Amino acid sequence: MEYHECSQEINRNSDGTRGLDDGQSQEDATEHKGFVQALKLILYLIIFGALAGKFLTGSYLWEYEGKWIRLRTYFPPPQRLFTESELARYDGTDPDKPVYLAIDGDVYDVTKGKAYQQGGPYHILTGVDAARAFGTGCFKTHRTHDLRGLSDVEMKGINHWKKFYENHKNYFQVGKVSHPPIDPSSPIIEGCDTKNKKQSGAKKDTEERRALVQDKDIHQEF
Ligand code: HEM
Repeated sequence: MEYHECSQEINRNSDGTRGLDDGQSQEDATEHKGFVQALKLILYLIIFGALAGKFLTGSYLWEYEGKWIRLRTYFPPPQRLFTESELARYDGTDPDKPVYLAIDGDVYDVTKGKAYQQGGPYHILTGVDAARAFGTGCFKTHRTHDLRGLSDVEMKGINHWKKFYENHKNYFQVGKVSHPPIDPSSPIIEGCDTKNKKQSGAKKDTEERRALVQDKDIHQEF
């Protein structure tokens, strides 16, 4: 009598069709059961985590409000390349257009942010790549992408705001802005909190912002 050790041997079924032997189908069934059980366990853990979040923080998502819960993260709008003058048209002065701002080349739709509307404390940042102002706080004199001469702390400030826009649940990237090259021999822009303090009106800006806005949490990290 001949023995076949291969578990995948194909036999004749009672109806004459060919199929895998019983051992193989049992193995498949066990594997399938294990997989379903693992899925169930993950589902229970998710439900338990969500309920615990609701109980402890009042939110099923543990107060998470980042980009991963917004549909646009998974279905991003088509990205566009802006010139500086094209970008300037999206500064909120035309009520039929969305409000855009750029930071270090990346253009974001910030229409949902009240602070950017006309008369708002950060309207000055719209329609332009004012990356430098994000690092220095000189909103009037540093409305430029020119980052030459900035300190590490100021660069850190810019990176903080880049991440802020990248991860914000209400803002989303719509493209990039192309800038003409900066002439390396042109003078580095002066700070506004030393010589230019009067001219920039930085102190006045701060006071206006303090009066106009309420939530200060977003500045905590820098
Ligand atoms: C380097 C200096 C600063 C930079 C670059 C900066 C930039 C910003 C930006 C980009 C926002 C985001 C607005 C949004 O999308 O929700 C914001 C919000 C805000 N800023 Fe500043 N800021 C600076 C300094 C200050 C100071 C000195 C104050 C207070 C005296 C202040 C008060 C606020 C408040 C309260 C908000 C919340 C606005 C809102 O939710 O409507 N900021 N800031």
